[in-house]
Amino acid sequence: MPVSRTPVPLFRQAMDTARKGLAQVAFFSLFINALMLTSSIYMLQVYDRVLASRSEPTLLYLTLFAAACLATLGLLDTVRSRLLVRMGAHFDAQLSGPAFERVLGSGRSPQMLRDLDSLRTFLTGPHVLSLLDAPWMPIYIALVYLLHPLLGHVALAGAITLLLLGLWNERRTRAILAEAGSELAAGHQFAELSGRNAEAVRAMGMLPGLATLWRRRHDLGLGLQGLASDRAASVASSAKALRFMLQVGILGVGAWLVIREQTTAGVMIAASIVMGRGLAPVEAAIGGWRGFLAARQARVRLAEEFGDQSAAPQSMPLPAPRGALAFEGVSGGPPGSRAVTVRELAFRIEAGSCLGITGPSAAGKSTLLRLALGIWRPLTGVVRLDDVNVADWDRHDLGPHIGYLPQDIELFPGSVADNIARFGEVDAREVVDAAALAGAHRMILELPNGYDTEIGAGGVNLSGGQRQRIGLARAFYRRPPLVVLDEPTSNLDAEGENAVRRAMDALRAAGRTVLVVAHRPALLGGTDKMMVIQNGRIAAFGDTGELMPQITRRVAGRPAATPSPAEGGLCRA
Ligand SMILES: Nc1ncnc2c1ncn2[C@@H]1O[C@H](COP(=O)(O)OP(=O)(O)OP(=O)(O)O)[C@@H](O)[C@H]1O
Ligand SMILES: [Mg+2]
Repeated sequence: MPVSRTPVPLFRQAMDTARKGLAQVAFFSLFINALMLTSSIYMLQVYDRVLASRSEPTLLYLTLFAAACLATLGLLDTVRSRLLVRMGAHFDAQLSGPAFERVLGSGRSPQMLRDLDSLRTFLTGPHVLSLLDAPWMPIYIALVYLLHPLLGHVALAGAITLLLLGLWNERRTRAILAEAGSELAAGHQFAELSGRNAEAVRAMGMLPGLATLWRRRHDLGLGLQGLASDRAASVASSAKALRFMLQVGILGVGAWLVIREQTTAGVMIAASIVMGRGLAPVEAAIGGWRGFLAARQARVRLAEEFGDQSAAPQSMPLPAPRGALAFEGVSGGPPGSRAVTVRELAFRIEAGSCLGITGPSAAGKSTLLRLALGIWRPLTGVVRLDDVNVADWDRHDLGPHIGYLPQDIELFPGSVADNIARFGEVDAREVVDAAALAGAHRMILELPNGYDTEIGAGGVNLSGGQRQRIGLARAFYRRPPLVVLDEPTSNLDAEGENAVRRAMDALRAAGRTVLVVAHRPALLGGTDKMMVIQNGRIAAFGDTGELMPQITRRVAGRPAATPSPAEGGLCRA
């Protein structure tokens, strides 16, 4: 059995590392913020010392000191930016691969990848820096207080007003932006799904109807986003105006204090600069709040999508399966839904046997195959491959031992050989062997570049039959111990059907287990066990030699293509 260590959810792990990175950045911000005071201190000293004493050497030393501080500031700022970029790259490296796998593995919309991009962009962008600087505001205000209490009051009142503006902004825009985000995401997804059926859309003039549906979503999303932006913009403008007013206010109060000889001109100007520094990040945070909210939404969605998915579990590699397959009271259906499309499946086939599965449309045949492969998990019961629960098997380890031809064949952008070799290292001999077994070798040689022909986006367009033959070759690559074929001849001519029949014989002779969903007797005749599925249950299961005559006899006598369980005591499962 695979041995797993206690898994840490992947997304949480990545966020923790990002947080650690941000803590480092915040540490640099500490020094950067201190050095930011250089110009105000310089100003204070020049006004109060140099101008009063008219000492040129003092001016020179002060200037040199300020220059050194500012050079250090520049250096630290560069280091801080680089830290942020490295953190972003690391964050991406931890999550983008698994996100891509998840998008591919579950056929989900690539929204997850977009979310990841926007979260990373935010985490490494300038707004994060202003958010990290914002906590320094109290220290800046305390400094103003040190310069003069009255000036401190002005700065404190300004800071409180700005913070209130920020909170108000958050309250007024958060819900709207969340709704806008989900409407726009739904619009994207709708466009993607419709795009996959572009031919049907064109052929049957479905574009106007689909476009209306899409536009409704898109317009709603954009409208909400516009509303939120308007609101946010008015708050941001108010914040900016407020800060200018505060500058005037603090200079005014400072000048008044100077007139009354309670402070110096240097203090007046230094207070204005220190307050400006302290409030700038808050103002920037208000301006960039929309980005922050979008990033937070992306984070919530990502946390949900990744769920408790852990970093690749460290499982002990298992020996290659021989192909014995057992269903033990398995019920289940599509993931993410409560629907149970197959019920209480219980049967066992030995390694090296060939099981034909038949039954009416929507009976649950494809569901059974997906459960057998472990790509869908049973709600109850266990599927065992060589006595190991398939769900426990590491997908990357198990993949090479499985040949699967899905009912909807998807090939990927790449060469024919790449597709057959499953985008791993191409073993030319094995590729040709698989193609020959699938009856696809001659067909492939007739393509413009043979096995190197590029297919998919921008490449050669294949016919349905060609795709199915290449899909079969992919399933037969390296003759895996468990081969699962979902209606393998649905697009094939008689010659193709013969090839599949021969391939099934060859695989069985080589001790491979074959599961094949089929309707035609020509293919089913080549199996040694047969199963009839109806309404998600096993209606009949037995040796093909015994079962086949009963089925064909019944088919001959009735219009329906498959037998009903009520018509005979066939069920041995
Ligand atoms: N991806 C899916 N999401 C939701 N429901 C699904 C999904 N795939 C299948 N189903 C449902 O599960 C039931 C069984 O479908 P399944 O594809 O297993 O039937 P089937 O026997 O393979 O039919 P066919 O001969 O038409 O391929 C159907 O009612 C179908 O609506
Ligand atoms: Mg099916």
